[in-house]
Amino acid sequence: MVKINANYKNLKQNYLFANIAKKVAEYSSSHPSAKIIKMGIGDVTQPLSQPVVLALAKASIEMGDKETFRGYAPDEQGYPFIKDRISSYYRDNFDVDLDDREIFVSDGAKSDVANFTDLFSDDNTIIIPDPVYPVYMDSNLMLGRKIRLLDGNDENGFLPMPNENLEGDIIYLCSPNNPTGAVYTREQLKQWVDFAIDRKAIILFDAAYEAFIADENLPHSIYEIPDAKKCAVEFCSLSKTAGFTGTRCGYTIVPEQLIADGESLNKMWMRRQTTKFNGTAYIIQRGAAAVFTKDGQASCKAVIDYYMGNAKIMTDTMSKLSIWHIGGLNSPYVWLKCGMDSWEYFDLLLNDINVVGTPGSGFGRCGAGYFRLTAFNTRENTTEAMERFLKHFK
Ligand code: MLT
Repeated sequence: MVKINANYKNLKQNYLFANIAKKVAEYSSSHPSAKIIKMGIGDVTQPLSQPVVLALAKASIEMGDKETFRGYAPDEQGYPFIKDRISSYYRDNFDVDLDDREIFVSDGAKSDVANFTDLFSDDNTIIIPDPVYPVYMDSNLMLGRKIRLLDGNDENGFLPMPNENLEGDIIYLCSPNNPTGAVYTREQLKQWVDFAIDRKAIILFDAAYEAFIADENLPHSIYEIPDAKKCAVEFCSLSKTAGFTGTRCGYTIVPEQLIADGESLNKMWMRRQTTKFNGTAYIIQRGAAAVFTKDGQASCKAVIDYYMGNAKIMTDTMSKLSIWHIGGLNSPYVWLKCGMDSWEYFDLLLNDINVVGTPGSGFGRCGAGYFRLTAFNTRENTTEAMERFLKHFK
């Protein structure tokens, strides 16, 4: 008789955002005239930029011509035309040198972050900050791994740090943090890098929101910290940076010098990916490569500035209402104290002002009593949602 992976029984019934979508669909069907404003899942509203659209269109036409058609890519980890652009991006913006062999182009950070767990044995202890993006926790629960949660809270600014008693082998860090928007400083990241090297641990660094950092003193990539290539893998995504939530493209950096338990993680990831993944579609890689051109970067910056304008409207509103909040400065997320159970607050906002957000408790037990709003809606909807807040909570 077939046996299932019983670890799945330890998961919550639904993935956080699937649960929210279900609740909103139920509410909409019973209140068809409600004008619901979605500030829950971080899905973008602004379209792909012109340089990206033109590159996608051109690549699509190439695929319909027998002279330029492409089948399986010679290198599933990404075409040289995009890897070269990613390495220039790291060199020009972060002063970080990457070899093309260290860059793995993918269909987004979520799948890579979750799949990277394949490379490690089940007897590792996994360190996960709390609250944080639920994929780290869920993907390790699916494998029955031992998880140690590190509390993020008001006192540590939702940026938990290592201490000498901390034990663990794999450390997830997300900076700017999803959901709180808190960003580790260089000094703080250095402490994590030193800790990881000392303990022979590996850091899985999620940099999906790096492009939203406005404070020039804050690090975007963990490789800005000396020696981080000896202990860290970095995941990044074009979903929020360039509007690829529906188009799907990201990249993972696995340094060649990264050795775990005597093995090269770069070689292991290559082996895993060549077996289980056939690469990102050529058309998508062409569109993604356009993100890293001069025009592509200017367009992304304009859209990010637009979202951060929304974030400012949101944080101004929270300040006016004297609602405790952080985030929204170097991140598209605003994290607020809701003064009640996070799911009750979710229901209250949905029922009373037709605004959808994400309950903080969905990101971990330390998120209880907090709530996340995203700045990814349109300016009009964001303004209207904040007007509804002002009217309801004044
Ligand atoms: C979020 O809302 O946290 C993200 O959009 C989810 C994701 O990137 O998968």
